[in-house]
Amino acid sequence: MITRSWWVLYGGFGSLVVLIAVLGVGSMRRSRTIHNETLAAHEAYMKADLLVRELPADLHLSGILIRDYLLDPSPFLGPDYRTRLKRQEANIQQKLEVLRMLLPGEQAATLARLKAEFDAYWGTLDPVFEWSLEQKAWMSRSFLREEVLPRRNTIIGLASEISRISSENLAREQRRLKASQEEFQAFIRRLLGWTVLLGLVVAAVSITRVTQLEKRSSEQRERAERAEVEMRRLSHSLVRAQEAERKAISRELHDALGQKLSFAGMELSRLAAVRNAPEEEFERRLGEVQRLITETVRAVRDLSMSLRPAMLDELGLGSAVKWQAREFERRSGIEVDVQIDGELEGLPEGLRTGIYRVVQEGLTNCARHSSAKHVRVSLYGGKELVRLTIQDDGAGFDVGAASQGGLGLVGIRERMAELGGTVRFVSTPGKGTILEAEAAIPAAEAVST
Ligand SMILES: Nc1ncnc2c1ncn2[C@@H]1O[C@H](COP(=O)(O)OP(=O)(O)OP(=O)(O)O)[C@@H](O)[C@H]1O
Ligand SMILES: [Mg+2]
Repeated sequence: MITRSWWVLYGGFGSLVVLIAVLGVGSMRRSRTIHNETLAAHEAYMKADLLVRELPADLHLSGILIRDYLLDPSPFLGPDYRTRLKRQEANIQQKLEVLRMLLPGEQAATLARLKAEFDAYWGTLDPVFEWSLEQKAWMSRSFLREEVLPRRNTIIGLASEISRISSENLAREQRRLKASQEEFQAFIRRLLGWTVLLGLVVAAVSITRVTQLEKRSSEQRERAERAEVEMRRLSHSLVRAQEAERKAISRELHDALGQKLSFAGMELSRLAAVRNAPEEEFERRLGEVQRLITETVRAVRDLSMSLRPAMLDELGLGSAVKWQAREFERRSGIEVDVQIDGELEGLPEGLRTGIYRVVQEGLTNCARHSSAKHVRVSLYGGKELVRLTIQDDGAGFDVGAASQGGLGLVGIRERMAELGGTVRFVSTPGKGTILEAEAAIPAAEAVST
């Protein structure tokens, strides 16, 4: 049978396994996610930082190109410088596009400003390629100083602002990841705490349960050992009782029957010897032989009745109990009242013999132990049950203590248990004893026998 504590154990162990699995899998997944996020943030930052750093260099390069062009006296190299400058512009536009994808949305405004500044810068440079050699000679210095330089400085300032914001972003992202990691660690700590607590509860319930089971099993073992000792004692007692019974029968046969038959034989021999003696002598001897034979017949009948009275089968339980009571009275000198009520005819053989043996043992105990003056035997046969009561007014006994004694009471208990009935002894030392036995009449057998 599965008891409540087993359910608690099943639930506890199941929850433990689930918690440990959640702990293990959750920790692995979470740490992998945090690691990937950190890597991604770092990579994005490195890429953006590199691009932001390259922008001023590209800008300087374009400035150098313009300066070279302005200083170059050749009237034919203008388109070549312009193509190189356009390539430079396309390169920077591409980097700005990559930056737009790498940097978070909050930097979009700064990035747009940077792009606008670049566009304005390219726009400022474009007309220079239309200049004549004279224009280049007298306008280039003021152009470089007033147009190119301030724009270049603005762009460099914006680029370094982007770089700064990008570093701040990285630091913020790292802080966010750290906080998320700490939050996860706190969650793991809480989960671990609950797991340990649950583990302790499961361990405590298991230990209690195992201790209980061990205690119960050692109790059962002790009970089994005691029962075995009791069995051995009973079987020895049974063997002794059988021996005693055989001895009694053999003594009875020897003393009562053997002797009487020997006397009868001797008397018959004498009878033969006094065949010619006076008639009175002959008749006296004959009378003696008849007396011996009558006594022998009675002794045989007594012996046979004590083993199993024929009237139990022929006249039924009521008559057998009455006969037993009379015999008991004759032998013990204790007065016995017998009261038979109800219907005792047609009882099954087993029930009849069982109740008769209980009466026999009950009365024998009265004779042997009670020193009673009066015994009352009541037998009631109902439709469904038979009830027997034997009450004496003798010494009584301690029912609990007597269980270690002889075989009689054990036998009564076993007989009644075998019949599916019950037996009860009510006795107080000094106040007599009542034996109450009751057994149901098996429905099918009650009519058949
Ligand atoms: N009617 C009674 N009055 C007083 N004591 C009784 C009575 N019936 C039983 N006892 C007590 O109970 C004990 C157990 O009885 P039980 O019949 O089992 O054993 P026993 O009569 O001593 O031996 P046996 O095995 O021969 O019957 C007796 O020894 C006796 O002390
Ligand atoms: Mg007895």
